[in-house]
Amino acid sequence: MVFTANASHALKLVGESYPFEPGDQFLLTFDNHNSVNGIREFDRAHGARTTYIPVAPPEMRVPEALLDSSWSLAKQGGHNLFAFPAQSNFSGVQHPLEWIERAQKRGWDVLLDAAAFVATNRLDLSRWQPDYVALSFYKMFGYPTGVGALIARWPALEKLHRPWFAGGTIGVASVQADRHTMAAGSAAFEDGTLDYANIPAIDIGLDFLETVGMDQIHLRVKCLTSWLIETLGALRHGNGRPLIQIFGPHSCEQRGGTITLNFYDDQGRVIDHEIIEKQANERMISLRTGCFCNPGAGEMALGLSKQELVSCFTSSDRGMTYEDFRLCIDGKSTGAVRISVGMVSNFADAHTFVEFARQFLDLPNS
Ligand SMILES: Cc1ncc(COP(=O)(O)O)c(C=O)c1O
Repeated sequence: MVFTANASHALKLVGESYPFEPGDQFLLTFDNHNSVNGIREFDRAHGARTTYIPVAPPEMRVPEALLDSSWSLAKQGGHNLFAFPAQSNFSGVQHPLEWIERAQKRGWDVLLDAAAFVATNRLDLSRWQPDYVALSFYKMFGYPTGVGALIARWPALEKLHRPWFAGGTIGVASVQADRHTMAAGSAAFEDGTLDYANIPAIDIGLDFLETVGMDQIHLRVKCLTSWLIETLGALRHGNGRPLIQIFGPHSCEQRGGTITLNFYDDQGRVIDHEIIEKQANERMISLRTGCFCNPGAGEMALGLSKQELVSCFTSSDRGMTYEDFRLCIDGKSTGAVRISVGMVSNFADAHTFVEFARQFLDLPNS
């Protein structure tokens, strides 16, 4: 276990230290968080290849047939890294953890992004043994900031080569000899002073989760999510058109408490997510809008093609801002609305959101 600032930091440690070489492979699903997508910059810098496995709307799962062909890309004798989220922070999809062993048998090291999964699901590392797991403890406890971790199997940790050294990560370093040796194990990955004042909070948080009971939390989230999906999906304008489209599984099987959706008027036109966010905030409802640092899932869900995205990026001669992007994808939604339920959510919260949603039914010429 390497203590990190957050899940992104854990993912970056793997990306910058994985021994990518020309011809090696980095394989990942479309619905990864940007902190996993960013690893492609490290693999490219070393001449390795990035391959994305698409997820298919409306369920936003990976078609099984694509997995075999993707895993067959592993370079024999090379370094092959396969990354996927245990739970997508866009669609709530929980990908099968069976993929871990299947991919390893085909020559892949597996990086599991468990940041969204572990808050409401038990991740039994004696049963599931990815090479690397990234998570943030504070997200598990419902706290906004704190400490994260990279959990790695010993051989997988030994495979990583840090691109630099820092205070705390070395055995010995010399200026005149121009040499350094790395510290053993996790210390080699913990740069400088750890946020050790916060580390005792992990014990307290884990004890608290045990007191509530992860199985209870899981069941609560499942029930609330199920009710929300069913009730929101049934909201219809007077002319029968649906108010809401959900991007992700419509059943509670292998999904978490993250529900991503868009609102539509009675003519089927999307109601801008910024309008929804503003009105929700006025009602003291916290929800998130945009693409939630998960552009791949957003592009698939909203039907944005590679061609139009590439042309937006090339049409802007300066760094494209989100506003430029919205203007470029004119007439289409560039984002969605995400509601999430967790340990502290209750039925009143779910009901309040449904009542809020109802106010968009049959709006005159919205
Ligand atoms: C699936 C997933 N991965 C990674 C992250 C990044 O986590 P952090 O903000 O702790 O770096 C998040 C954040 O929400 C996430 O949901």
